[in-house]
Amino acid sequence: MYVLLGIIAGLLGVLVIVTWYTSKRLVGMPGVSQLLPLSPFRIPLLADKMYIFGVPNGASRDLLKSTKDGIARITTFNSNTVFVSNLEVVKDIMLKKSDNFYKPTEFYDYISLFGDNLLNTNDSEWRKHRVVADPAFAEQNYTYLIQKSAEATDMLIERLQAQHESKGRTIIDPFDEIQDATLDVIGKVAFGYDFGIFKPKPIPKGFQMSFLDAIKTTLTWGIGVNLTTPNFLKKYLFPKTTLAVAETKQYMNQLIQDRRNDMDAVKYDLLSMLVDSNLSREGGLSDAEIMSDVFIFLIAGHETSSVTLQWLLYHLCVHPECQDKLYEEIKKVCAVDGTFTMSQYEDLHYLRACIQETLRLNPPVVGIPKKCRAATKIGPYVVPAGTDFVVDVDHIQTSEQNWKNPTTFNPDRFDSRSSDYVKKHPCSLLPFSLGQRKCIGFRFSEIEMAVMMSKFVLYYKFSLPKDDPLMQTKQVLKGDITKWQQVTCKPYYLRVEFTKR
Ligand code: HEM
Repeated sequence: MYVLLGIIAGLLGVLVIVTWYTSKRLVGMPGVSQLLPLSPFRIPLLADKMYIFGVPNGASRDLLKSTKDGIARITTFNSNTVFVSNLEVVKDIMLKKSDNFYKPTEFYDYISLFGDNLLNTNDSEWRKHRVVADPAFAEQNYTYLIQKSAEATDMLIERLQAQHESKGRTIIDPFDEIQDATLDVIGKVAFGYDFGIFKPKPIPKGFQMSFLDAIKTTLTWGIGVNLTTPNFLKKYLFPKTTLAVAETKQYMNQLIQDRRNDMDAVKYDLLSMLVDSNLSREGGLSDAEIMSDVFIFLIAGHETSSVTLQWLLYHLCVHPECQDKLYEEIKKVCAVDGTFTMSQYEDLHYLRACIQETLRLNPPVVGIPKKCRAATKIGPYVVPAGTDFVVDVDHIQTSEQNWKNPTTFNPDRFDSRSSDYVKKHPCSLLPFSLGQRKCIGFRFSEIEMAVMMSKFVLYYKFSLPKDDPLMQTKQVLKGDITKWQQVTCKPYYLRVEFTKR
């Protein structure tokens, strides 16, 4: 017994000494420490300041609020992470001195199941991907996106209508329903492939799973298995996931080959455009790299948009006056037959402002990681080379220093025609990041969300169901629903009642 207690005390002593020693590398910087390295989940006492998944406890926000210069550290055993909300320092990191900061790709390697891509590379390797990918996201290609987003929304509305007819009302878990629509869009726009989400289709010859099942299993389990299990054990411990990952790859390879065999056809999906753009370049990407890029578009492109739409639906439930204003605008700008054009998009000032305001209050990506190449001075502190940084998007966008009434949902602050409109510091709103590593899909998602929302609002009124006790708590009705941090930050439990107008 005493021996065991002695061992535990010894281990604790080592944890305390290493953690204290690590924190001293950032001379004078205010901060807090936890004894364990960065943990996936919250572990009370040992890892309760910084962890990846769960209900965010706001340790970095509280810390940054308490500092005068918006710079603070969280020490996790043998590593320091510097959190930043100071806009001038953010400007240095993302724009002015961006050459001294790079993306720590470890985090993104786990989701990069098919190798290197735009998201998990740096420097010349990243540039090689970006040059090929940029033309696929050019403005003239968005007509196809608009068309596919409208189709997916129509099919979702049809499905909700059927639910309404059978149950007499339509209460949805927007997590499932909206995600289906954004997955349908990204399937068609990224791969030129209909996953059969709204109209199921048979499994093609040579496969054991449908592409949809393979993709969904890969997205739900593949990343977790990749994170925790050595390669040689995967197929024994997780046979379904291993099959799903292998078949996802087989499907994607086949789509690339199909494109190569049919180069004359005019196609607007991202994969075809990547293959085309790559052909016109020397020393471009291999097929494996193209596949990995398109897979990353799928991961990065559907959940982020779906989560933002969930948050926007929630805010519109809490603010029926905004919903009415939005309805009036959409009714005026959009055609009755539901067609949508880029010029209508530009005219939907209030809808675009609602999307901006949602991205401000609820950025799906709450922090942007960076690492410094060389020792650097930030504010009054000198930070050694190799230190990790997090640009704290969530805090920057909801801090009183940067925004008036920061926790209030007020789209007018983004509507240049409104008296509430204010000109902002370029770094006070960064849901898509900034600088050369800014999200390549930011226009894509803004347009997709606008098309989907315009159709929903024309067709339905939204409210929080009156008979759902969780939705009727004071806190939720006031607009303060629990946030749940997974790969993106989403509402923890949300139900929305759709009533036909
Ligand atoms: C609301 C929607 C979205 C949000 C909030 C969002 C957010 C972000 C953020 C914050 C980054 C920077 C990450 C970092 O540097 O660590 C990023 C990068 C990226 N995003 Fe998005 N994104 C969205 C939609 C999309 C869509 C629709 C696509 C593709 C179809 C996409 C593809 C990418 C890619 C490939 C990168 C890496 C770009 C590079 O490093 O060159 N994202 N996104």
